[in-house]
Amino acid sequence: MAEELEIIQGDKNEVYSSLIPQIKALIGDEKDVVANLANVSAALKQAFNFFWVGFYLVKEDELVLGPFQGPIACTRIKIGKGVCGSSWQEKKVFIVDDVDAFPGHIACSGDSKSEIVLPLIKNNVVIGVLDIDSDEYATFDKTDELHLTQLTEWLVSIF
Ligand code: SME
Repeated sequence: MAEELEIIQGDKNEVYSSLIPQIKALIGDEKDVVANLANVSAALKQAFNFFWVGFYLVKEDELVLGPFQGPIACTRIKIGKGVCGSSWQEKKVFIVDDVDAFPGHIACSGDSKSEIVLPLIKNNVVIGVLDIDSDEYATFDKTDELHLTQLTEWLVSIF
């Protein structure tokens, strides 16, 4: 396991390109899902200083809060509710420039202004979501989606 992350200076495309191989190396052959998701959350938070980074995992008929980095968050989200529940229901990535403009947004913190949510899809079933919040408007774009999709597609292999 790598001892520490090397966070390069650069545009976000360069930061992701450097970070994601390090995340894969960090996880290595570790099989514990909670430990791995915790380190993925920490690595993304450390590299980008996002406001909140974490996972919600599908448990029965709800998303339940999993490993995360940032302020305390809501524990359970129903399918179709908020950005996370919409990503689960529609099996797609949501990029929200202004959370207050998203119908049904679940405001865990008033400081969250924009977010990206990516479904974790294994065998065509959503098993959780990766949720990243920013305290600035319109933080996320196609560059984030591209790299984070690469990450989530790989991550489901460790479940
Ligand atoms: N913003 C999310 C809720 C989770 S918190 O942001 C951590 C949503 O509306 O789905």
